[in-house]
Amino acid sequence: MSVLIAPSILSADFARLGEAIAAAERGGADLIHVDVMDGHFVPNITIGPPVVKSIRRVAHVPLDVHLMIEEPDRYLDAFVEAGAAMVSVHVEVLPHLHRTVHAIRALGAKAGVVLNPSTPVVALQEIAGDVDYVLVMSVNPGFGGQTFIPRSESKVRDVRALLDRAGNSAPVEIDGGIDQHNVARVVAAGARMIVAGSAIFHSPDPERATRELKAAALGGVGSPA
Ligand code: DX5
Ligand code: ZN
Repeated sequence: MSVLIAPSILSADFARLGEAIAAAERGGADLIHVDVMDGHFVPNITIGPPVVKSIRRVAHVPLDVHLMIEEPDRYLDAFVEAGAAMVSVHVEVLPHLHRTVHAIRALGAKAGVVLNPSTPVVALQEIAGDVDYVLVMSVNPGFGGQTFIPRSESKVRDVRALLDRAGNSAPVEIDGGIDQHNVARVVAAGARMIVAGSAIFHSPDPERATRELKAAALGGVGSPA
């Protein structure tokens, strides 16, 4: 796999989501990243299945749905039915993570697990062979436009090594504070799915920003990790 770019619509104008998604797709977006927040797990509230369903109708690429909510098990079928091709859940809220991962897969979606910045990589130890991707949060989830936490770079490397030891080639995704200047470093560390919100949708030209982020990301492929 090369590097996939997943623009996060959290930083887009919610009244013009269709246009924002079309621009990102023209720029080469491989996925559309959808941030779902409940005001409990994170201090912000965003969207639910009806909006995912509307986005599904206009997007041409798969929807990567990031659930920052408590009790995600209650909503998995609703999000997959709405059109999520990928669903990621936070290890911090799930005592039965193995069950949840397999429930996502049973619904026909790819199952991702997410680590907050303060959550150690070892939390994935027993699940590493079962996941379709791992999302490393490089900011504390809840808001777009935050600053990349530098330690996330070595965390990506450690997650990659853990997956490799488990014999799982599942990609590592990174989310938070990614821009043209730091993307090559996280790709060199092993990230292969890149979420970016403000770097794309706060730019005057989201199409061009997507294209440039992808070009910058590809610069990190093959670099020493
Ligand atoms: C943060 C979200 C991110 C966010 C990234 O809680 O999970 O997906 O939209 O935004 P930027 O790229 O602006 O940090
Ligand atoms: Zn996200």
